[in-house]
Amino acid sequence: MLKNVRRTHTCGQLRAEDIGQTVLLQGWAHSVRDLGGVCFLNLRDRSGLVQITIDERCAPSVLTDAQRVRQEYVIEVQGQVVERARPNAKMPTGRVEILATAVTILNRTEPLPFAIEGGEAHEDTRLKYRFLDLRRPSLQAKLIARHRAAQAARRYLDELGFLEIETPILNRSTPEGARDYLVPSRVHPGQWYALPQSPQIFKQILMVAGIDRYMQITKCFRDEDLRADRQPEFTQIDLEMSFCTSATVMEMAEGVARSMWQAVRGEDIGEVPQLSYADAIERYGVDNPDLRFAMELGDFTHAVSANESTVIQGGLAEGGVCKALVVKEQQPSRKVLDTWTEFVRRYGMGGLLWAKVTDGGWTGPGGKFLSEDEQATMAGTLGAEAGDTVLIGLGQAKHVNPGLGRLRRHIGLELGLAKPGEFKFCWIHTFPNFEWDEDNERWGSTHHPFTSPVLEQVELFGTGREAEIMSDAYDLVCNGYEIAGGSIRIHDSEIQSKVFTALGIDAEEAEQRFGFLLRALRHGAPPHGGIAFGFDRCLMLLTETDNIRDVIAFPKTTKAQDLMAEAPNLVDAVQLAELSVKNTV
Ligand code: AMO
Repeated sequence: MLKNVRRTHTCGQLRAEDIGQTVLLQGWAHSVRDLGGVCFLNLRDRSGLVQITIDERCAPSVLTDAQRVRQEYVIEVQGQVVERARPNAKMPTGRVEILATAVTILNRTEPLPFAIEGGEAHEDTRLKYRFLDLRRPSLQAKLIARHRAAQAARRYLDELGFLEIETPILNRSTPEGARDYLVPSRVHPGQWYALPQSPQIFKQILMVAGIDRYMQITKCFRDEDLRADRQPEFTQIDLEMSFCTSATVMEMAEGVARSMWQAVRGEDIGEVPQLSYADAIERYGVDNPDLRFAMELGDFTHAVSANESTVIQGGLAEGGVCKALVVKEQQPSRKVLDTWTEFVRRYGMGGLLWAKVTDGGWTGPGGKFLSEDEQATMAGTLGAEAGDTVLIGLGQAKHVNPGLGRLRRHIGLELGLAKPGEFKFCWIHTFPNFEWDEDNERWGSTHHPFTSPVLEQVELFGTGREAEIMSDAYDLVCNGYEIAGGSIRIHDSEIQSKVFTALGIDAEEAEQRFGFLLRALRHGAPPHGGIAFGFDRCLMLLTETDNIRDVIAFPKTTKAQDLMAEAPNLVDAVQLAELSVKNTV
């Protein structure tokens, strides 16, 4: 408790037990109701609201002072806690009110661009006036949840012996593969720092340094296309440990998630099932499946291979696949089916072959093109019955899997199959080590180049079968969001060189990009691995919002702008000249 504090209580803390107490409160006038001889103020601070009453029991000067108060003025109120004649069950402080003996205005406000609560305003206006937006109890609750989650994670990790260590923000490019934010060096004209996309290299070096267990809640910067769950500047709970296997890291990370969910939601996350990447793609089409609903995909490539219709044969050409899912107890309108078809086209699928199951057989294109035997096989595997709809995708696996997989989630959410407040976690592990980079026509790392391949597959390097090599990597997924990702790292410089060779990175380029890590790895690196949580995404789930900006105090827009601070902004020519930088626009 601080001794030098003027207020005696916070607004939201007062209860019936406090009746009779003399209090001094400070806060914002949330609402003002001036009824002439009586004035009611709702006083608000972070802890909540309490009613202030000024009536005939108070000195007339107090009423005059109260009548000068306007919404969002900062005021100080002295008074006595009394029982409220008509309790308000909706307010935690609703059984009491403060009979004021003094009301002092501490500060006024310019006219408000929007009402703090209830008033509708465009998000851009809210972001410009973020200091007002953040006064909303709903946003404050999210920041409080964020604080609780961070504290819980820190406590849990501290108990396991993790040391919190800061790593540099001004440094050189890291290997996550997004575009870097660059900062020009004044002292070294023409040279640039890169802001970290993650502390990846430094945390591995901390393992070489014998730190054993590292944690950091830190900012990462990635200049990539933004989505509802992405920010250019976001926060990771970053973790690394020595002398571990993937099972150790997964057990520890599950504990981090458990501690955060316990702290914020008061719930246990339960058993976390594990799925290999291959199984996830097979059953859900995506590597971040939402397990709150079933609707698994079935593979019918073999079952329809003898079908001679051009639609089916065209779909199966060049190694194409046939997969399907059933939407139970729904027979949507043509309009809805058209929107679902449009949806899968975004993922490269040519269209959606649908069929409504009726007692008299299948209707729609699915019924037309599939034989009765094929329909029976699908219905049997998927559990499709009269009243259901079967959605079938044909084409290349790289289009059909994400198309149907994303559609599955879209439909699940649209039909309300996920209960609010329900969380379904799963681990996805054993990813392909390499993925084909279509733009640059070369192999890239699925995670990053320091991810350990599955050791039994190391012999596949140099045989032309590198695409088959899987990695000892794992993602933690919750309700369809990837909330954490990590891997066991390579600590053997020979395997590291093989990976670089497969990625088309020659010794010189490797040295130039990652030389300091490679040097460290050659000086007695322990076996190590780690993971990083997308902390903002965890908070989105914990506070049940689908907008990442809601859980960040000062977020950027989808155009990477801070509308309040007006960043990015132009800087003057002198500043640029000092940095040896010239604007070309
Ligand atoms: P990765 O790139 O998978 O791994 O990132 C870890 C987690 O960070 C979150 N995340 C983001 N959140 C918000 N906005 C973004 N732009 C964004 N990008 C990623 C995701 C993701 O799961 N160094 C490795 C970790 C490791 O191997 O230990 C890394 O950064 O939730």
